[in-house]
Amino acid sequence: MRGLPPGPAAPAALQTIEWVARPTDLLRRSAARYGEPFTLRTLWADAPMVLVSDPETVKRVYAAPPEALRGGASSTVLEPFAGASSILLTSGAVHLRQRKLVLPPFHGRRMEEHRAAVAALAAAEVARWVPGRPLRTLPRMQELTLDVILRVVLGAPDPALRAAIRAALDMTTSLARLIALSLAPRGSAPWRPFLAAVARVDALLRAAIRARTPADGPAVLDELIAAGATEDELRDQVVTLLAAGHETTAGSLAWALERLARHPVDLSDDAHIDATVKEVLRTRPVLSITARKVLQPYRLGAYTLPPGVYVAPCLYLAHRRAGSWPDPTAFRPQRFLDGAPEPFSFVPFGGGVRRCLGASFAALEMREVLRAVAARFELRPDRPQGERMRRRSVTLAPARGASIIPVTR
Ligand code: HEM
Repeated sequence: MRGLPPGPAAPAALQTIEWVARPTDLLRRSAARYGEPFTLRTLWADAPMVLVSDPETVKRVYAAPPEALRGGASSTVLEPFAGASSILLTSGAVHLRQRKLVLPPFHGRRMEEHRAAVAALAAAEVARWVPGRPLRTLPRMQELTLDVILRVVLGAPDPALRAAIRAALDMTTSLARLIALSLAPRGSAPWRPFLAAVARVDALLRAAIRARTPADGPAVLDELIAAGATEDELRDQVVTLLAAGHETTAGSLAWALERLARHPVDLSDDAHIDATVKEVLRTRPVLSITARKVLQPYRLGAYTLPPGVYVAPCLYLAHRRAGSWPDPTAFRPQRFLDGAPEPFSFVPFGGGVRRCLGASFAALEMREVLRAVAARFELRPDRPQGERMRRRSVTLAPARGASIIPVTR
């Protein structure tokens, strides 16, 4: 039984630089050269990572019990931000208890309560767009999705807290800084400005938690307080929701606008809006992998992966398999109206006990924003060629910030 599948022979430092600077090239090239599964070695994780994308294997990985494959963030630049008791980092019984607590406010009827607030914020944002003037939409979508998640989690948004969160996250977007953070030990010089920015977020957030009164309107924070969470736990859970819930949705929305400017879709009914959201998440998954740490020897075809390494369903490659998706790189929302995709071929939110907690909420938010845009504008590209996928901290965002020209309809 062999150990690790083949993969690029370059040293881990070089693979890390490529993982940051040209992630999709690295994924495509490795899949073409080594087939699947293949192994990448980067300094983002503390061990080699074995990538898989065929639906049967993806299903099996997501279904594995946490004693065999443990989910949750590996060592990423968001770790000091999220905090030790963050739902992203816990596992087993503690993790399940946290999910039970945080999931309900983001699902079903409870989520519907947020729809009007999301629609109002989206309409106000789109009303600021100037017809005919080119617009970089990624920063606009970041502001919007941060406002939405602040309102849902904390009630009334505090402008100072909002600015501090953006300042901390913006520090993880420059390629040079990301590479420095990935290569340097935590606490060394490249980390200091980032850790100082995180400390500022912490101070403002703890003040907001202490000052919280239900008179400010309903907020997820009240439910966490009622469940008896300590201030440290509250801090970690709230930061996690704010960070996980806004950068991902902002990137996905920016991609939606970038794609729609080049491939117009009639968004006058709910079915087409929903199919468009799905096609954006398929063709431009902002999170490219969902890693699981191997805790017990794990069989993968001809290989037995040793404990300590990672096995990672690769969403980017799963969403472009020719066997699952005819003409995989074409942007064609209609494919989601023609029938349901093969199970586990479409996994933009991951799966199993770690599946994205905000999946329904994120889709609702995307639908509301696209509805607000389509009510006022048609979108045109500022240049004919589509934008490349570029890493912004852990997400893959449009390289030129999703630049479009809104035109009055
Ligand atoms: C389009 C937007 C979004 C995308 C593409 C996305 C995608 C993902 C993915 C791929 C994962 C990892 C799943 C796995 O490992 O199997 C994840 C986890 C998570 N997401 Fe999202 N997400 C989005 C929006 C949101 C929002 C709005 C929230 C909060 C309201 C949120 C909260 C979380 C949390 C808390 C986790 C960790 C779950 C756990 O470890 O148990 N996400 N997300």
